[in-house]
Amino acid sequence: MADRQEFHDRMLSLGLARVSEAAAMASARLVGRGDEKAADQAAVNAMRDQLNLLNIKGTVVIGEGERDEAPMLFIGEEVGTGHGDEVDIALDPLEGTTLTAKDMPNALTVIAMAPRHTLLHAPDVYMDKLAIGPGYPRDVVSLDMAPAERVRTLAKARGCAPEDITVCILERPRHEDLIAEVRETGAAIRLITDGDVAGVIHCAEAEKTGIDMYMGSGGAPEGVLAAAALKCMGGQMWGRLLFRNDDERGRARKAGIEDLNRVYSRDELVTADVIFAATGVTDGSIVKGIRREPGFLETETILMRSKTGSVRRMTYRNPTG
Ligand code: FBP
Repeated sequence: MADRQEFHDRMLSLGLARVSEAAAMASARLVGRGDEKAADQAAVNAMRDQLNLLNIKGTVVIGEGERDEAPMLFIGEEVGTGHGDEVDIALDPLEGTTLTAKDMPNALTVIAMAPRHTLLHAPDVYMDKLAIGPGYPRDVVSLDMAPAERVRTLAKARGCAPEDITVCILERPRHEDLIAEVRETGAAIRLITDGDVAGVIHCAEAEKTGIDMYMGSGGAPEGVLAAAALKCMGGQMWGRLLFRNDDERGRARKAGIEDLNRVYSRDELVTADVIFAATGVTDGSIVKGIRREPGFLETETILMRSKTGSVRRMTYRNPTG
């Protein structure tokens, strides 16, 4: 295992931004074209090519799927030049494939890097998620509270009425009861059709996005990526894996997870310092989407380091040739 002191996060972070930018640029011509698969494939190819230029001994721990179902950036794939820090990589080359295909807001390319064995190897199952922004007492809300209680408790901690709280939730039939319970408190709900990494990140910038809390189930891999972002920006998050059948339980055991009912806090999902980059594919409240101008592409990337809490926003203009 790598010595944690050997995570050269400052030096590696700019390279990570390039990886994320490359994936976004590759998917640019597929925004709004109705072809989710092609958009995803373009982002995967570009992300993998750029990742392999980095001086790291990287292992993909959150990726495109198991080796037999994803030929590239599969879980366990070794990436990088093979020289340098031993790191875990969590990635989603296109978070919001449908958002991209339909040119709807908040599609991102996302990648996080941390020392080896410090990102939860989350299987591709659902995770029940709860997140809030910075500035609240530790564990002020929890996954064990009923949704309405979470709203009321957060309102009290913020010194406002439940009506002043906005909760972000994925619009899914499985969330009907959750939505009804939250509505009963008088809180507002921002429904999103996809993209819960962005949904969670919104909580970290509540004054800008208007979102105080994220709740509901979505992909577990996306949960680890969201926790990495919150670890850099501040904010609390909790996640519990959800299993629909024995096959999913088996996937979790294979990934080394013993306690299938465990609630993971943000710092248990990501146990050491992490760097995180996301580039906008379509316009969103965190970063702008790709701008296509005659002869140029322009991207916006958010690049963050948990060690320093630094958040850098970078625009990149590149001739399209
Ligand atoms: P993709 O980009 O892989 O399509 O994921 C989009 C997403 O909305 C995630 O943000 C979220 O975690 C997951 O899908 C929710 O899954 P489901 O669509 O099954 O509810």
